[in-house]
Amino acid sequence: WPELHRIPHPPRRLPLLGDVLGVDRRRPLQDSLRFARQLGPIFRRRAFGNEFVFLWGARLAADIADESRFAKHVGLGVANLRPVAGDGLFTAYNHEPNWQLAHDVLAPGFSREAMEGYHRMMLAVADRLTGRWDREQAAGRAVDVPGDMTKLTLETIARTGFGHDFGSFERERPHPFVTAMVGTLTYAQRLNTVPVPLAPLLLRGAARRNAADIAHLDGTVDDLVAARRRSGGGDGDLLDRMLETAHPETGERLSAENVRKQVITFLVAGHETTSGALSFALYYLARHPEVAARARAEVDRVWGDTAEPGYDQVARLRYVRRVLDESLRLWPTAPAFAREARQDTVLAGEHPMRRGAWALVLTPMLHRDPEVWGEDAERFDPDRFDAKAVRARPAHTFKPFGTGARACVGRQFALHEATLVLGLLLRRYELRPDPDYRLRITERLTVMPEGLRLRLERRTAPS
Ligand code: HEM
Repeated sequence: WPELHRIPHPPRRLPLLGDVLGVDRRRPLQDSLRFARQLGPIFRRRAFGNEFVFLWGARLAADIADESRFAKHVGLGVANLRPVAGDGLFTAYNHEPNWQLAHDVLAPGFSREAMEGYHRMMLAVADRLTGRWDREQAAGRAVDVPGDMTKLTLETIARTGFGHDFGSFERERPHPFVTAMVGTLTYAQRLNTVPVPLAPLLLRGAARRNAADIAHLDGTVDDLVAARRRSGGGDGDLLDRMLETAHPETGERLSAENVRKQVITFLVAGHETTSGALSFALYYLARHPEVAARARAEVDRVWGDTAEPGYDQVARLRYVRRVLDESLRLWPTAPAFAREARQDTVLAGEHPMRRGAWALVLTPMLHRDPEVWGEDAERFDPDRFDAKAVRARPAHTFKPFGTGARACVGRQFALHEATLVLGLLLRRYELRPDPDYRLRITERLTVMPEGLRLRLERRTAPS
């Protein structure tokens, strides 16, 4: 950034340390949102000698989405996950051959036909969730929304992708895989908030725990792969693709080490963010009974009294899907992505960048830019996603799944799963919020509504 000085920064800077005054180390994203509100559509923060550029203005975000001049940057939190996920699809550098290879081999695992195959398994997992919620409801207890959504989404990706059952619903505490995963995500986030040279000293205990967490994740995955090899193959799921499928043109296959990294990648990327998206959607549905009533009426109309909705009946829940989009607008659960210049260029005709210079796109702010979303951008309103409103908006202003070649490969999977589950829950329960609950956000690279509990009432038959 040759003209970095033109980009605003927080007013009070400390020598060596940078902009760390008043910063909450456990909530780096929410700090950045605060700075964004003070400093405008592009700003920078310095921490321990490194300068980071953040942007969220719609015009800037649209320009940086140009794939001919910019690409994904593997930096900060994503780079900190390399010890966990190596050159797996999410953490691979653009130039690593394993990205293209794995992308070409695995992307067909998310085709429409593949998705249709997952649908029944998704229903079976959702059945275990409603079984649990029926029991909680009958006992007069509130349900732990993020905890139970995490059980659901972990079981769903494990079952559909890898033919594996973690038994999450049979446990009171989170599965040790989840505990290890949360540990590694939290550690990767903390690494951003200490000076790099001091990290080994300051985080010694945490680094030891992190190494143990990674060993646990590796061990879980090695067991899962060994079981598949013993059984001689599954039903063409993601794991089969990873183990058996050769690249359609080069004939190359994923190496054993790369398979390990891909399985971890998909188990983690495939459930944490979807769990957050479902949790926020349930939060907003409980807070907006009029929206819940409209969504529920749609479910009753589209699904009628079919015991199990079919694959196509999920895509027809247009309003439920808007509720989900609107939740992902306000709280995109992977709340930033990084982009770098492929060559020397000028961002939006204003900010010169040298090849390799990079910036973080802050999606929760992009999704609240008043120039695009209006002065009431903070208000929850699913009608922002009706077809007419969507057509009227400029491109690249809604980016919960990232952008370009490195955008989320699991997008359709997440949307199908979440819409299906919201439909099932709306059909079965009325959601009662705790009037004292105030939304608080936990951060571990992803975001999640902290401590959200809801009370349920069983509905009688659909009207
Ligand atoms: C990439 C968000 C669900 C697998 C991404 C990226 C975002 C994202 C923002 C781009 C990151 C970057 O540019 O650095 C989300 C959200 C989800 C979700 C918000 C749920 C609501 C899923 C699911 C899967 C998945 C269900 C797998 C089943 C991946 C993978 C990548 C990725 C493998 C890396 C793709 C590549 O670089 O080739 N996701 N994701 N995600 N996501 Fe998702």
